[in-house]
Amino acid sequence: MSLKIGNKESTDNIWDAIYSQRAIRYWQEMPVSRDLIKQVVEAASKAPSGSNTQPWVFMVIDENPVKNRLADALREFYEKGQLRELVERGQETEDSSQRLMMSGAENFFMNLATAPVIVVPFLYQLTSPTNEPDSLIAGSSIYLAVQNLLLAARALGLGTLMTTAHTLIESVIRENCEIPEDAYPAALIPMGYPSVKFGPTKRKPVEDVLRWNKWG
Ligand SMILES: Cc1cc2nc3c(=O)[nH]c(=O)nc-3n(C[C@H](O)[C@H](O)[C@H](O)COP(=O)(O)O)c2cc1C
Repeated sequence: MSLKIGNKESTDNIWDAIYSQRAIRYWQEMPVSRDLIKQVVEAASKAPSGSNTQPWVFMVIDENPVKNRLADALREFYEKGQLRELVERGQETEDSSQRLMMSGAENFFMNLATAPVIVVPFLYQLTSPTNEPDSLIAGSSIYLAVQNLLLAARALGLGTLMTTAHTLIESVIRENCEIPEDAYPAALIPMGYPSVKFGPTKRKPVEDVLRWNKWG
C-alpha cells in the first residue's frame, strides 16, 4: 500500500500518535480527500476480530445533504431535553478542563455539520465471538477497528471524536443511509482537519490502573 501524505501534524511515530490522539470537536472547513479517508478505513479494517470474521462496514458520510440531516436530528434531540441540561450543568463546574470538554460537547451536539466527514462503523453479519449485537462481547469485534481508525486518522493529521451519539439518531441514520436491518451502528465519529491542537491527554497514571498478578 502506498501511504498518503497528511499535513504538518502528521506522524509516522506510533507513540506520538497514541499519546497525542485526543477528542477533537472543532474543525477546519478544509475537505478531506477520499483517498485519505479510504486509507483511514483501510487501517481500521486491519484490526483483529473474532475468528477473523471482520464483521464490519464503515459508512462514510461526506456529502452535505445526508450529513446535514444527521446533524439536524442530533441538534433537535439535544435541544429538546435532558442531555442539554446535563451538558449545561457540566459547563458550570469548577474544573476548567471539564468545562472545556462540556462546551466542546455542546458544539458537537449543536454543530455536527461543521465536521467535514462522519464515519459510522457498523457491526454486520456478526457471528463471532457472539451473534448478539447488543452484548458487551460484540463490541470486542469492532472497537479495535474503531481505535485503529482513530489512530490512523491522528497519524495523518486528522482529528476524530469517538462518540456513541448514533444511539440518539439511529432511525435517522438507518433511513438516510439505507442501512439493512442486520447491520448495527457501533459509533458515530466526526472527522476532519482540526482547528485545535492534538494532545497530550490527561489520563490516570499507569500506577493507578496496573495490577501485577493479584488485584489487591
Ligand atoms: C464510548 C464513548 C462515548 C463518547 N460519547 C461522546 C459524546 O456523545 N459527545 C462528546 O462530545 N464526546 C463523546 N466522547 C468523547 C469523550 O468525552 C472523550 O474521548 C474523553 O473525554 C477523552 O477526551 P480526550 O481524549 O480529549 O482527553 C465519547 C467517548 C467514548 C469513548
